[in-house]
Amino acid sequence: MAEPKENLQMEKIVSLCKRRGFIFQSSEIYGGINGFWDYGPLGAELKRNVKELWWNAMTREREDVAGLEATIIMSPAIWRASGHVDTFSDPMCDCKKCKKRFRADQLCEDQNLTLIKNANGKFELPAGTKCTSCDSKELTEPRPFNLMFKTYVGPVESEDNVAYLRPETAQAIFAQFKNVLETSRQKVPFGIGQIGKAFRNEVTPRNYTFRSREFEQMELEFFIKPDEAIEAIHGSVATVPATGHPGEPQPNWGWQAWHQYWVEERVKFYEGIGLSRDTLGFHHQTPEELAHYARACTDILFKFPFSKKDENGNVKGDELEGIAARSDFDLSQHQRFSGKPMGVFDDELRQAWAKLPKEKQDDLWRRYYENRKNYLTKSAKPDETAEQIQKQATEDANGLAKGQYIPHVIEPSAGVDRLILALIANAYSETTETDAKGKSETTYVMKFHPRIAPIKVGVLPLLKNKPELVKKAIAVRDLLRPWMNVYYDDGGSIGKRYARQDEAGTPFCVTIDFDTLGEKPELLDTVTLRYRDDGRQERLKISELRDWLLARIR
Ligand code: GAP
Repeated sequence: MAEPKENLQMEKIVSLCKRRGFIFQSSEIYGGINGFWDYGPLGAELKRNVKELWWNAMTREREDVAGLEATIIMSPAIWRASGHVDTFSDPMCDCKKCKKRFRADQLCEDQNLTLIKNANGKFELPAGTKCTSCDSKELTEPRPFNLMFKTYVGPVESEDNVAYLRPETAQAIFAQFKNVLETSRQKVPFGIGQIGKAFRNEVTPRNYTFRSREFEQMELEFFIKPDEAIEAIHGSVATVPATGHPGEPQPNWGWQAWHQYWVEERVKFYEGIGLSRDTLGFHHQTPEELAHYARACTDILFKFPFSKKDENGNVKGDELEGIAARSDFDLSQHQRFSGKPMGVFDDELRQAWAKLPKEKQDDLWRRYYENRKNYLTKSAKPDETAEQIQKQATEDANGLAKGQYIPHVIEPSAGVDRLILALIANAYSETTETDAKGKSETTYVMKFHPRIAPIKVGVLPLLKNKPELVKKAIAVRDLLRPWMNVYYDDGGSIGKRYARQDEAGTPFCVTIDFDTLGEKPELLDTVTLRYRDDGRQERLKISELRDWLLARIR
């Protein structure tokens, strides 16, 4: 049977990634380890560029975001507060006959079925579900499998010393919220960004690096005022159109405007590194899909070669990043579990509240009270009574009237490795040409945006055995090196060297030839500059080369 086209495309991408040193299987010489991947020389550069661009766009180039770099292992209390210990699991089932293990929702999805969640919250396989490996219908009932990797801190392997490798970078941001607030001189609205490793013991890692067990995230937690505070200060909460960029942030923005803003900012980021809008898709989570505390979540998708078609034959794509409006859930949880206050004081709110008519105060008070009561009820500990919850919600609403609240949060959370895979799939292009004798040759070009390309410029002396050319080429390399990643190559014909750089995705090559040395006096100290994507060539002065390149790679 012929391979589906999309699988062939993935196979070609995987093969190029290995051949050119983008991605290797981890521990390959020992047979590999499922769900773990290493980045080779080109992959490491690509990844570095992507992370640096995210960091610059999200923190350094903004007044309202500060950075954080927290540890991977943290107090296990963090994961109890966040809910990960109790609920961060996937439903898993086994084939009783061939012993193959599946993620139950994926097993159903692969057969166009939907996993059933019964009234008690337990999962059940729909009738007809079979093992996709041996066709047996003898499958175990789905049972939850917690995705956190466990370890022990210190020499004693006891329950008291259990710790977890973080399954997301976000929780450290919440746990350090107060420290960052106090040391960065930020005021709500503001954000904290972090890039770092995350670990999930995925039941079935798949689609190359798309679902890995060790991966990296780039997460921003952007803290905002509750809508009731905005309404008290500004009279009303701004409404923005449901599509398109809402423009520069405004003081009267509530969670909806901020959510829309971050979706569009993130799309802008992707466009700026070469993923055009038509390669992306969106999934707006339905009320059934949303976590109970979330107000909205928009996933930005990329159309990967393995992405499935819908019933109309359109490819929707698979998740690159989720942008969630998470209410005040996270900081509230850490306040409750740690006993440390996570709220902020806002004098503008206190003053505005005092000037409000009594009717308005009562209306805002009641709405805030209801929201807090709702949260407190849903996340109540077993021994908490309705009276205790009402008392706490009353205290919280009274706090709002005095200018105090727990910030709400908008969370754009992206996966580095998924983005790298998207950028590689997007850049991949191949051309097969057949000569007069019928001999076919395929050439590969990785059309990375210059901002992310692993190598920015190839420096090539026309001939290796002419010391004057080599000397000049090395001088050009050394001139550019402090500013960008340069690759010097003097091996093989110039055509072969161009082809090597095309496969690496190098957007520009410069060749040092006899004209550079002044064979035609008017061309002294100029080089031939070649564009990767169309092979176009032009002459450029060496003295202008650095700035010309910098203008295109930044
Ligand atoms: N703090 C929110 C959070 O972690 P998530 O949707 O579970 O949300 C965010 O993860 C992003 O992390 C995803 O959109 C994806 O890009 C990446 N990610 C999640 N699990 C992954 C995995 N197993 N392998 C690679 N990337 C993953």
